[in-house]
Amino acid sequence: MSSIFHLVYYSRAAEDLSYTDIREVLDVSRRNNTALGITGLLIFRDGFFLQLLEGAEKDVRDILNRIREDDRNYSIRVMIETESADRLFEGWSMAFYDGDISTNSTQYLVDLFEAVLEGGMTKKNLIMPILRKFRASAPDLK
Ligand SMILES: Cc1cc2nc3c(=O)[nH]c(=O)nc-3n(C[C@H](O)[C@H](O)[C@H](O)COP(=O)(O)O)c2cc1C
Repeated sequence: MSSIFHLVYYSRAAEDLSYTDIREVLDVSRRNNTALGITGLLIFRDGFFLQLLEGAEKDVRDILNRIREDDRNYSIRVMIETESADRLFEGWSMAFYDGDISTNSTQYLVDLFEAVLEGGMTKKNLIMPILRKFRASAPDLK
């Protein structure tokens, strides 16, 4: 079985970002990611994006390069690059969690973002179990 490359980054959302912009990001992401076999999770909260991309390393890096060029976000900081045998988000071309309007797992997200922004989430053994828990606690993300 080929190994899966996982990459987690966070970025600042453009100040004038609208929900229409997010909708468009999700639509194009799901189309491209399905074609490339990329899966993952995008979280939006309080002006920040946090995204997990997983798939073949080259494809993930190509997508990340596109996102770096995308002026709907800026100041991208890659937190984690790792490989494992399994996908965390099998079957999810890009799950989305809106931390501003959903109350489900809100405290959990606050803790997650705070930990990331404080630089305390750089180890895969810390973030991977948290993402797994997050997926399990919010089955309506798709
Ligand atoms: C926060 C954020 C996350 C994104 N995630 C993805 C993604 O997972 N896959 C993807 O193809 N594009 C993603 N995009 C969009 C890319 O930046 C780019 O607009 C898109 O890949 C272009 O696709 P196209 O050449 O098919 O139009 C994201 C953009 C932003 C701002």
